[in-house]
Amino acid sequence: MNEMHPNPAKETTSVKVILEWAKGKLLEAQVENPILDARLLLGFALGTPQERFYGSEDKILTKTEADNYTKIIARRCKREPVSRILGTRGFWNLTLKINPSSLDPRPDSEILTESILKTFLDKAANLKFIDFGTGTGCLLLSALNEFPNSSGVGVDISKECIKLARENAALNGLSRRALFIESDWGRAVTDKFDIIIANPPYIQSDAISSLDPEVKNFDPHIALNGGQDGLSCYRKLAPQFVEVLKKRGLVFLEIGYNQRESVSNIMEGSGLKCHQINQDLGNRDRCLVLGHRHQY
Ligand SMILES: C[S@@+](CC[C@H](N)C(=O)[O-])C[C@H]1O[C@@H](n2cnc3c(N)ncnc32)[C@H](O)[C@@H]1O
Repeated sequence: MNEMHPNPAKETTSVKVILEWAKGKLLEAQVENPILDARLLLGFALGTPQERFYGSEDKILTKTEADNYTKIIARRCKREPVSRILGTRGFWNLTLKINPSSLDPRPDSEILTESILKTFLDKAANLKFIDFGTGTGCLLLSALNEFPNSSGVGVDISKECIKLARENAALNGLSRRALFIESDWGRAVTDKFDIIIANPPYIQSDAISSLDPEVKNFDPHIALNGGQDGLSCYRKLAPQFVEVLKKRGLVFLEIGYNQRESVSNIMEGSGLKCHQINQDLGNRDRCLVLGHRHQY
C-alpha cells in the first residue's frame, strides 16, 4: 500500500480532503509553510496555478490528478523546494526557469537590483553590465529589463548555468542585449563595464551541512561554497573588479549578513572603496556598493 496516498481504498478524493491530507504530511516533514505549499502544489498538479481554492473545495480529483499530487507531495516531504518542483522562480518582475545546476534565486538578492535602480536614475542610459556568477541570469536579466538601452555579460563556471541563463534571456525577450559566457570568474573577460553585479558563493564550507535540507540538498554546492572562511571568492574577485570596472563604474556585491567588515576590507585592500551598504528584506546587511578608491 502507498503510505503517501490520502486514501488508497477510495477512488475519489475532493480538493478539501486532499489538501488536509497534504498539510498533515508536510507538517510531519517539518516543512515551514505547509498550508501554502499544499495549495501551490495542488494548483501545479492540476495545471491551474493558484493558491486558493474558494468555491472549488468540493471538486473531485480524478485518480490521475490525485496520484500526480501524491507524488509531488512526496517530493516536498523530502524537502525539495516548491520552486524546484515548479521549475520556475519569480525574481524582481521576471519569471525564470531554474534547474539542478543553478542556485534558486533568493528574494533577498533583489536588493542588488533595487540598489542599482536607486543609484542609476536614468533608465534610458546606455550602460554596460557584467554579472559574475550569473546562475539563472536573474541579476543581469532583471537589471537589463529595467534599463532597456543597456546590455550586459553574464559569466559562470557552470556550462549548464550558461545554457539556462540563455534560455531565461530568451523567455524574457532579453537575448539581444545579454551575452552569457562560460568562464572562471573574469578569465574570459577583456572589456570594461559601468556596473558590476556579483553574488558569489559565500557560505563557509563547514557550515553547509547545517543548512536547511532545501538548501544543502538542492542548491548546487558550487553556488554556496565560499571556502574555509566563506571569503575565498571575494579574494579572487576583488582584483578582477578593479581590472574590469570603468573609472566611474560601480560594483553591487552581495555578502553574507555578517560579512560586511571582512568583505569591505578585502575590497578596500584591492583599491576599491565601499560607499554604501544596503539591507535585505530582513534588515540584514546584504549589498555593498563599491567604486574605485581614486574617485572619492
Ligand atoms: C550564489 S550563486 C549566484 C547565482 C545568481 N547570480 C543568483 O544570484 O541567484 C554563485 C554562482 O557563482 C558560480 N560560480 C562559482 N564559482 C565560479 C567561478 N570560479 N567562476 C564563475 N562562476 C562561478 C556558481 O556556478 C553560481 O552560479
